[in-house]
Amino acid sequence: MSSLSIVRTRADLRTLVSNWRRNGKKIALVPTMGALHAGHLALIEQAKASADVVIASIFVNPAQFAPHEDLARYPRQEAADIESLKAISCHALYAPHVAELYPEGFQTRVVPGAVAARLEGAFRPHFFGGVATVVAKLFLQVDPDIAVFGEKDWQQLQVISTMVRDLDLKIEIAPAPTHREADGLALSSRNAYLSAAEREIAPNLKQALDKIAETLTQAPETLANVLEQTKAHLLAVGFGPIDYLEVCHSQTLEPWHPGHPARILVAAWLGKTRLIDNRGLD
Ligand code: PAF
Repeated sequence: MSSLSIVRTRADLRTLVSNWRRNGKKIALVPTMGALHAGHLALIEQAKASADVVIASIFVNPAQFAPHEDLARYPRQEAADIESLKAISCHALYAPHVAELYPEGFQTRVVPGAVAARLEGAFRPHFFGGVATVVAKLFLQVDPDIAVFGEKDWQQLQVISTMVRDLDLKIEIAPAPTHREADGLALSSRNAYLSAAEREIAPNLKQALDKIAETLTQAPETLANVLEQTKAHLLAVGFGPIDYLEVCHSQTLEPWHPGHPARILVAAWLGKTRLIDNRGLD
């Protein structure tokens, strides 16, 4: 366990980062909304392996929640998060107050393009604008060399990579593989909302993705049928509604055509909890 610097203001952040820069440190940022689980800690371990110092941020970003979504009940457990960060020797935590990111009079937003339009973007139209805006601000405030994002939020990863490319930001975006429970459920802070019965059903989502991948590898022409059968299966085991289950071009997120890199993405409700997952298709 090592000491963790905790900064809450841009001024303190600037002092910390300037010191690191003066000492020639390579800086990695891991942006999070807290409620840290093993998946977040794996992102931080990956960041430690590719930089000299790692700063995690914890900020539950109001701009990426619609009024009817779970901003108020989103899990917040800062004291436990701080212990977890200390235990894995993360160097610093940036946990700003809302006004550090959205001061009085704030009115400028990043508007992502086509990569954000479908899938999550279609069901949560406010979401990627809020994510891109806060991530751009965190990048500018922290000024890291590298930032690590989980593949669990595959479309988010593509939206951020596209933003970095389009805005000429000098930051390397490092993807990190999805961290899963032993039964395959992708780790997510929102898994805490699942009842015991829902938790039993939840691994069906990953199993469904694997089954689609296996079937399409042998018979790609069955794509439409396979997706329909899988949706019916997910509804039968207790999911519903299914917001989307699609095979897409893995970078543009446009509908997939054979010969292009493919990703299967799903978002489905289990009771009051919305789960998302994805996997590649060779
Ligand atoms: O993936 C998340 O936790 C959030 O969307 C992020 C990237 C920290 C922005 O608020």
